[in-house]
Amino acid sequence: MKPSHAHLNITEQEWERMVVVFQGVLARHQVPAQETQELLAIVGSTKPDTVASR
Ligand code: HEM
Repeated sequence: MKPSHAHLNITEQEWERMVVVFQGVLARHQVPAQETQELLAIVGSTKPDTVASR
């Protein structure tokens, strides 16, 4: 994850936007609340290797 994203310089704001879009996709497909939380946690665990540290 880190080498795949480091050169993209992804910001905190861009990450937050991705989370909102992702939640919208899950809601549109009627993914239940528990699974939504689990998926957000899994994706969230990759944040330190995705958002550029500065
Ligand atoms: C705001 C959040 C994210 C953005 C803007 C983003 C954007 C990108 C872009 C543009 C690439 C291609 C980089 C290149 O080839 O030069 C990439 C690669 C990749 N991303 Fe993301 N990404 C984000 C989050 C995530 C998340 C949350 C995951 C998985 C949980 C993920 C998994 C991957 C993987 C596995 C690759 C490498 C694919 C490959 O080498 O073929 N990314 N990402």
